[in-house]
Amino acid sequence: MSAILRYYLWNIGCQMNQADARHVAEELDSRGYRATPTPERADLLILNTCVVRQSAEDRVLGRLSSLRPLKAGPRQRALAVMGCFVGDIEALQRDYPYVDAFFRPSDLDGLAAWLDRWEVEHLWGLAGGEVSTAPQVAELVPVSYGCDHRCTYCIVALRRGAQHSRPIDEVVADVQALVARGAREVTLLGQNVDAYGLDLADGTDLAAVLRAVHAIEGLARIRFLTSHPREMTQALIDTVAALPRVCPSWELAVQSGDDEVLRRMGRGYTVERFRDLVQRIRAATPDGSINTDIIVGFPGESEAQFENTLRLVRETRFDLVHIAAYSPRPGTVAATWPDDVSPDVKERRRLKLEMLQEQIAGEINAQLLGQTIEVLVDGQQRGRWRGRTRTNKLVFFEADEDWLGRMALVRLEWTGPWSMRGQVVGAVPSMP
Ligand code: SAM
Ligand code: F3S
Repeated sequence: MSAILRYYLWNIGCQMNQADARHVAEELDSRGYRATPTPERADLLILNTCVVRQSAEDRVLGRLSSLRPLKAGPRQRALAVMGCFVGDIEALQRDYPYVDAFFRPSDLDGLAAWLDRWEVEHLWGLAGGEVSTAPQVAELVPVSYGCDHRCTYCIVALRRGAQHSRPIDEVVADVQALVARGAREVTLLGQNVDAYGLDLADGTDLAAVLRAVHAIEGLARIRFLTSHPREMTQALIDTVAALPRVCPSWELAVQSGDDEVLRRMGRGYTVERFRDLVQRIRAATPDGSINTDIIVGFPGESEAQFENTLRLVRETRFDLVHIAAYSPRPGTVAATWPDDVSPDVKERRRLKLEMLQEQIAGEINAQLLGQTIEVLVDGQQRGRWRGRTRTNKLVFFEADEDWLGRMALVRLEWTGPWSMRGQVVGAVPSMP
């Protein structure tokens, strides 16, 4: 009889999934389970899934089929699947009879209730184990689940359902608990984070959450993502500018630089509105950074429309662009239209945009060379300390001292488009 239960937790996808996976791990740890990176050694296999593009769905399908033989073996183990792969549960149960349970995205309560039953029905009693979820310097905190937009390409909103904002007190209590465990930074998450509160009766908005979280002692940095250009308000911009611990690192997804494509994506804004927003954000937070998401090869996207996206990228000079080739997703409106940009053309556009962005990011970061910059150290990588600037850029430095969780002042000696390196010249004495 195995005394300690082991779980294998596989996770892919966005920050919301990362946050969900961490909560799953915490739930299991608190029940005395131990994590294992080896599925063959696990009593419980959990897949937290993403289907935002076909490539993500293919990885889920691959993982499901590779785990299938483990379910056929002599060992009594369970396989549970959660996340955006889980749409029509009855159909999934028919197609994957070897999966013991399916849970919708973020359905932690459903998972916990099922675990209660599974433990009673299939196990002989649990040995207690230590809570092994190591405290992290930077934590992810969902403030809203789901999304009320219906961008024509997006399956995530369909799978995650309507927006549901968490009450402000609950968010504040979560952040307080994380800070008590050693967190120095939190990122507030929502599919469409600036729409936070629109579904609440009490009138709270994201600016109110930022102010409340900002008042928590011991927290050095606050971030939030992803922002939708349609909901972003001047009040939010002003709040970010006014609160020193809120990092001015904006994640503002534009998706395309062409009005007609934006209209067919159902985004609800024009390129002009986006430009105006960027101007106001830069005026209020001149030391900030702006990242964005762009889809290339959307149905019907002509060469000229793609050129409009390149033009917007050239003139806006984003710090980072998450580029995706359009992938038709079942159940979305755009999937009913011809996917008429060939894979070759999508790849060519993706590469062209990537090269342009690499050049821009390299130039932006090069301006920081020689500057001394504040870095919150969140871990080690290949023998070097790793941290992030307030603008969310990666910085590495070498030092014998233990810097984990501390704010280092680093003089930058090398910059590249994706990361920077430097020498530590001191520590930030108190909270910013
Ligand atoms: N809330 C964000 C916004 O306002 O756009 C985006 C959330 S979405 C789940 C994450 C990103 O995945 C999108 O910004 C988009 O670039 C990408 N994405 C979503 N559906 C896609 C699809 N069908 N094909 C390619 N990329 C897609
Ligand atoms: Fe998806 Fe658009 Fe919402 S990309 S998550 S429907 S803002």
